[in-house]
Amino acid sequence: CGIAGYVGPRNAVEIVYDQLKRLEYRGYDSAGVAYLDNGHIEVVKRAGKLNELHKLLEQTPRKSELAIAHSRWATHGGPTDANAHPHYDAYERIAMIHNGIIENYLDLREELIAKGHKFRSQTDTEVAAHVIGEEYEKGVPIEEAVRKACLRLRGAYALVVISNVEQEKIVAARNASPLVLGVGEGENMLASDIPALLPYTREVVIMEEDCVATITRTSVSIVDLDGREQPVKPIHIDWDITSAERGGYEHFMLKEIHEQPQVIRQALAGRIDEKGRVRLEQVFNEHVWTEIDRVNIIACGTAYHAGLMGKHLFEKILRLPTDVYHSSEFRYGDPVLSPRSLAIFVSQSGETADTLAALRLCKQRRIRTLGVVNVIGSSIARECDKTIFTQAGPEISVASTKAYTAQVIVLSLLALYIAQVQEMPGVRVDEAVAELTKLAERAETCMELEEQMKGIADMYRNMPLCFFLGRGADAHVALEGALKLKEIAYIPTQESPAGEMKHGPLALVQPGVVAMFGATEPDLRDKVVSNMQEVKARGGTIIAVTTDDDTVTSRASDDVIRVPTCVYPFMSALLSIIPMQFFAYHVARLNGCEIDQPRNLAKSVTVE
Ligand code: G6P
Repeated sequence: CGIAGYVGPRNAVEIVYDQLKRLEYRGYDSAGVAYLDNGHIEVVKRAGKLNELHKLLEQTPRKSELAIAHSRWATHGGPTDANAHPHYDAYERIAMIHNGIIENYLDLREELIAKGHKFRSQTDTEVAAHVIGEEYEKGVPIEEAVRKACLRLRGAYALVVISNVEQEKIVAARNASPLVLGVGEGENMLASDIPALLPYTREVVIMEEDCVATITRTSVSIVDLDGREQPVKPIHIDWDITSAERGGYEHFMLKEIHEQPQVIRQALAGRIDEKGRVRLEQVFNEHVWTEIDRVNIIACGTAYHAGLMGKHLFEKILRLPTDVYHSSEFRYGDPVLSPRSLAIFVSQSGETADTLAALRLCKQRRIRTLGVVNVIGSSIARECDKTIFTQAGPEISVASTKAYTAQVIVLSLLALYIAQVQEMPGVRVDEAVAELTKLAERAETCMELEEQMKGIADMYRNMPLCFFLGRGADAHVALEGALKLKEIAYIPTQESPAGEMKHGPLALVQPGVVAMFGATEPDLRDKVVSNMQEVKARGGTIIAVTTDDDTVTSRASDDVIRVPTCVYPFMSALLSIIPMQFFAYHVARLNGCEIDQPRNLAKSVTVE
């Protein structure tokens, strides 16, 4: 979502709209503005493109010296007018916009409903607005009400509030989602991203986590959640505006690779309780999970590769027979579908035509359907019986990166949830959940591998062929690593389980050929090392992606890349996609390829 706010002598309504336009790349499905108009807060909001909001704004002349605006990318509640931001509190004394997820909103909502609150939307944002309104009723300044409310909110968020009582202030709180303040002369502003501010000021304060800021025309002040004053230190930004839209990254793909730690947090947000139990009870009633005798995962491209990881987990953890199909092939195979089976459709866009067609076939056959989808309100999300959203935020680069990670996380949560419901003996759900919650931090350390991957990419950028190989979960990740390299760097790849090499692909090995081996699974490592030797003996170059405690693979490889060791090896395998994404990215970049929009490909394929 995009956030904008302005207080100063110019027309704030026009400025915040312009700021939103500059955040269009974030993706959105509804938008709205709140501004002060003769002592009350006027809210104008609309589902759909920013143009729709613009039409509404143009109907009457609107002038104000203080306004906030939001473009929403739905996470809780579909993209409707009612769910669009801003939201009022119960007394319509404040209006609020928000990015991120309030994890405990269901509990808070129940608590407020019990006190007589009525809600107009299904959003977590409106719940947070009511919590702030409740604190504000106690007669404290608005920044104090926001600070107190933040102590009651759990989750990852950035929120911005205005009040019709203290009409000179905009108050913003940041927990995890980004928020920046723009310092001007006689005017101040804020936004979710720097590009929105650059036409107005280049003096920017990046808000720290767990802080509350108050801006007026002439002042900027910040306190932490204990109310202690914090220093306000603007930095000067001299980027050009187009690069700033990518948050300073050269390409959206690189930005999205770097977003993965945050994406992991978001995919888990609201789905794990304090006791380490998985909360997915809203998906199907508990008895459904005991009835299911088979799972079919149906998807295309990267989502298919995530599905393979799903199969790995469903079979390993649940002993539940699982097949993974390419959506385009599913229908033609005249699939044998057990009436007790569950069909899972994995899709970032939720619009892929082949996946949608497969979904409709399952619905005709009255099979239970579940979507694992990123885009709320998309066709697959709407047509599946139930959907779990991956909550990865909009993905703009055609080559998928963060959506994959989020899909695998959601499938892992689902496997653990089913184990929990079925009380599977021998499955330590709490331990696995604890490991999952450490994954974001571990993904952060994988970001440090970029420099190493850049060097390796430089060394091998002219390779005629690159193998991607592995066993177990590493074999699934190999497919995704290969897809990245071929789709953006146009380097031919050969991907297969490492053990299959000797049945044909090995014939392609000759000097100059590179083989990227995933070797994160300790139990399979010795066999993988033997496969490395087979490639090496024929003149191939070996790059091994392994864990930081492995002492074996370095003996057989030219380059070793290490990801953190996880208790559950599939998690290390999942992390190993990060260096592979960097590899593909830097080979493509060094070779001058068009990265975000590779030739011949599209982000969302709506033809069969
Ligand atoms: C296209 C995209 C891929 C994506 C695939 C499936 O080929 O370029 O990145 O994995 O479609 O898309 P979906 O939106 O269904 O996940």
